[in-house]
Amino acid sequence: MTTTAEALSPAPTPTGVPVLEAKRLVKTFGRVVGLDGVSLQLHAGEVLAIIGDNGAGKSTLIKCLTGAYIPDDGQLLLDGQEVHFKGPQDARNAGIETVYQNLAVSPALDVASNLYLGRERRKPGILGSVFRALDTAGMRQDARDQVLKLGISTLQDVTVAVENLSGGQRQAVAVARAAAFGSKVVVLDEPTAALGVRESNQVLELIENLRGNGVPVILISHNMPHVFQVADRIHIQRLGKRAATITPQSHTMTDAVAIMTGAAQA
Ligand SMILES: Nc1ncnc2c1ncn2[C@@H]1O[C@H](COP(=O)(O)OP(=O)(O)O)[C@@H](O)[C@H]1O
Ligand SMILES: [Mg+2]
Repeated sequence: MTTTAEALSPAPTPTGVPVLEAKRLVKTFGRVVGLDGVSLQLHAGEVLAIIGDNGAGKSTLIKCLTGAYIPDDGQLLLDGQEVHFKGPQDARNAGIETVYQNLAVSPALDVASNLYLGRERRKPGILGSVFRALDTAGMRQDARDQVLKLGISTLQDVTVAVENLSGGQRQAVAVARAAAFGSKVVVLDEPTAALGVRESNQVLELIENLRGNGVPVILISHNMPHVFQVADRIHIQRLGKRAATITPQSHTMTDAVAIMTGAAQA
């Protein structure tokens, strides 16, 4: 294991105004400290991975970033402007989309309907405004475009019910939905946890396509090879704090695990 000062020098921080920035976030649950002054910067065109042991504060951190929790202290900035999300809808309205660990897709609906769940488009004119008729054809066409743009070759037909899809395809639907509306940031919590090798690779490819489309991604994962394959930078949480931010170039997986567990310091 490399523990030389050189190998563990901090990762270079990208320049420019971060798309999303957290400054010294604090979140407590009674006596339990979930986050103890955590800062984070997400820059345009990067995949930032968040790793850490169970209970390190990963979920609490992303919940604070995505409006699911309101931090007790600290600041959240979007494009350099301070924001105060009162709930997940505020964050979504601001362009931050989250795919949570427990997949939020509706099995009985088809792919296109899942993409537009909660944001259904109505037909133009009186049909839509008065009779609330859905613009199914329009949504399907846009869903096809979206799937194509992201290079999701696994979703051939957007009219198929999601219950007939594999786990990886369902995950692809959830990611595609986030990508369709996450104009600023897409957050993925353990997107490959339940997937096989081939499906995992498809999701990793999707993450790279998202980045290619200019959307920065926050990826929470336990899978070190996946993290090291796609992440530009890696934020390591430990005991409610940021232990270090490293890169796949500056550190090995062994180094990352050592920092995660407290065996090494950055
Ligand atoms: N809603 C909650 N109520 C009480 N304690 C919580 C809650 N959410 C998280 N915690 C605690 O905060 C700490 C960080 O948890 P969490 O963010 O879920 O960690 P991770 O996602 O890294 O496993 C843990 O000690 C956990 O028990
Ligand atoms: Mg968690």
